[in-house]
Amino acid sequence: MYLTKEEERIYNGEYGEVLEVAMNLLVSLGEIYGAERLIEISSAQVSGVSYKTIGEEGLSFLKDISRGNVRVSVPTTLNPAGMDLSRYEELNFPRDFVEKQLEIIGCFKRMGVEIGCTCTPYLTGNLPSCGDHIAWAESSAVSYANSVIGARTNREGGPSALASALIGKTPLYGYHLDENRVPSYTFEVEGELEDLSHYGALGSLVGRIVKNEVPYFIFKNPISRDRYTKLKALGASLAASGGVALYHMEGITPECRMGKIEVDTPERITVDREDIEEEFHRLNTSEEKPDLICIGCPHCSLGEIKEVVDFIVKNQVGRSGFKCDLWVCTSIHIKAIADRMGYTEVIERAGGKVVCDTCMVVAPVEEMGYRIIATNSGKAAIYLPSFCGSKVIYGSTWDVLRRGL
Ligand code: F3S
Repeated sequence: MYLTKEEERIYNGEYGEVLEVAMNLLVSLGEIYGAERLIEISSAQVSGVSYKTIGEEGLSFLKDISRGNVRVSVPTTLNPAGMDLSRYEELNFPRDFVEKQLEIIGCFKRMGVEIGCTCTPYLTGNLPSCGDHIAWAESSAVSYANSVIGARTNREGGPSALASALIGKTPLYGYHLDENRVPSYTFEVEGELEDLSHYGALGSLVGRIVKNEVPYFIFKNPISRDRYTKLKALGASLAASGGVALYHMEGITPECRMGKIEVDTPERITVDREDIEEEFHRLNTSEEKPDLICIGCPHCSLGEIKEVVDFIVKNQVGRSGFKCDLWVCTSIHIKAIADRMGYTEVIERAGGKVVCDTCMVVAPVEEMGYRIIATNSGKAAIYLPSFCGSKVIYGSTWDVLRRGL
């Protein structure tokens, strides 16, 4: 792999051990995947933040590298942590867990990483332009950035995203190259998909078929209101069920609009409402009462929070409150606006919590006693059984909220 003189100096340790390790990691990756050289990135997004997912080993790695007095060289944001970084006591996060999680956050802070822990960095200021090269790790954000924004990133792991953040570069391979952005399956989607959960179910179904290839969607009916929230749900679920990092959609995603995508796929599959209903059954693993309802995977936009508020107001939930816990997960940035709009107050008066910086998958929900979780997220429904040992109730936003009455 070709390295500039400066890159060689970093590689040989002339700028210290941490950057040497980071550069060696990027070069090794580049060599494995046949990259010719490194390219500059405009931003990074780092995963591996929750103590639940990285454990003692990850914490000790972060302590080691953050002692080296190095700082990220491009704007870098973090994936969700294992707890709300402001309200961990009120939400009863286990004390030992809190201490470890705060240590992890301290390490990232020392390296200059922005402590806005979210899987929707594109809603909170880490917004690349179409065609930008970036190094992002969170799979749902990777899918959104590649597909909906038209930026270019591979599905980085936590360490490679952090290495790219420190160096400001990534190896040129995979989704950074035009030839790997070509679709290999076409899905014609019939019938109207109204709710986010329909897009989650579609992603779950299609991800299982295409695995880590690139699907191309043709929607026979236009996507009704709040299109980008629905694409966020679709991409998250595609990435969780398969390893999809990029999809295209006729007339909607930027590379299609710019006429860059040739659609001549060997496979053409029709999906109708019956297929979507079947996927709902597959994702549902419980008929019992939930002990936690979770909305916000990926983290809620303001519109999604408003939908919870509409439900509460319409059903006058405020009077008696929900009969189980309710987490509406979002970023601290979106919560600040929800606070101003009065949405947080409505939700919290009804017994719910607007939870920041974390989610039902990377928080230690099993340790907190939650066994049956109701969600409108396809990604959460796929991950909760294996990551948290939970049973899942999967349904539309209003259906899962109704389960708490
Ligand atoms: Fe985000 Fe957690 Fe879902 S990180 S995409 S809310 S599993």
